[in-house]
Amino acid sequence: MATRILSGVQSSGKLHLGNYFGAIKQHIELQNLPDAEPYYFIADFHAMTTVQDAARLKEYIQGVALDYLALGLDPTRSVFFRQSDVPEVTELAWMLGAVTGMGLLERAHSYKDKVAKGITPSVGLFYYPVLMAADILIYKPKFVPVGQDQVQHIEMTQDMAQYFNNTYKCQVFVRPEAKLNQTAKVPGTDGEKMSKSYGNTIDLQMEGKELKKTVMAVKTDITPVEAPKNPETCNVYALYSLFATEDEQKALAGKYRAGGMGYGDAKKALLEKIEAYFAPYRAKRADLAKNMDHVEKVLLDGAARASAVAHVTLDEAKRACGLK
Ligand code: ADP
Ligand code: TRP
Repeated sequence: MATRILSGVQSSGKLHLGNYFGAIKQHIELQNLPDAEPYYFIADFHAMTTVQDAARLKEYIQGVALDYLALGLDPTRSVFFRQSDVPEVTELAWMLGAVTGMGLLERAHSYKDKVAKGITPSVGLFYYPVLMAADILIYKPKFVPVGQDQVQHIEMTQDMAQYFNNTYKCQVFVRPEAKLNQTAKVPGTDGEKMSKSYGNTIDLQMEGKELKKTVMAVKTDITPVEAPKNPETCNVYALYSLFATEDEQKALAGKYRAGGMGYGDAKKALLEKIEAYFAPYRAKRADLAKNMDHVEKVLLDGAARASAVAHVTLDEAKRACGLK
């Protein structure tokens, strides 16, 4: 039997190295599993909890679509769609919310972090994990490949599946498991977790002067050029390691430990890696951007395939709880 995989990325900004190495790279690679049946979507309903400007939301949605396709998403092997094109998911979210206690949502780290950062919480932000649970459960996937920061949301999804099945004495929902990438946390230019909301990102689209300026600004300590340096605690080395082979990593680590190399040289090596790694992506992205009609067609085709599955699960859930 095929292994269904599902994941989503919010269209809440431009995608960056953290999104790529923490999530998207794995999504693309999973297409090669012989029995994989991947479903990937652009979480535009979720993005509405933070982006409330129509032009920007639209631009980000198109940007995420272009990024995935340019990075290697193959619509013949993956079902790729916009969350809002499958409205069944919002109906299911309501049904799950009705059997979920407030306490579960009040414990969500992501919600608490956003409130601590000064965001005035909307009802939608509080309800975010319920919509995410519906996103997942409606497709009955076995695995949900995500970064470490999403694990709690997957655990909440498992809880909600169980609440529903127990309340209505049914087996409509299947327990999904998180699938973590090896790259748990990519550091940003300031050494904190790279994130759209911290202004510390290296975006996938950056090139030329902008990329150079950003890489040169990556925070390092003040060890003088001639002194030995510790690669293990250096943000530049951590970022370089994402791109480099084991031998290349060892070679750079040796130069750190030997002393006599400034951080500027390590930054140049990192810059070259980023330029080379993403050059084919940038060319393909520019090409795809000339034909947005094709991109739209891919998304609508994906939505039709996703809807067919979502419709069946929603019907089962409605029967189980007495709506039908
Ligand atoms: P952001 O924090 O920039 O808003 P999202 O929350 O939209 O990113 O994350 C999209 C995906 O990328 C998630 O699966 C998340 O785990 C992953 N991700 C985001 N930032 C990083 C990072 N710095 N390191 C590893 N994974 C990340
Ligand atoms: N919350 C996820 C993030 O910020 C995005 C997301 C929404 C998602 N629905 C999902 C991820 C369902 C996996 C499965 O990255």
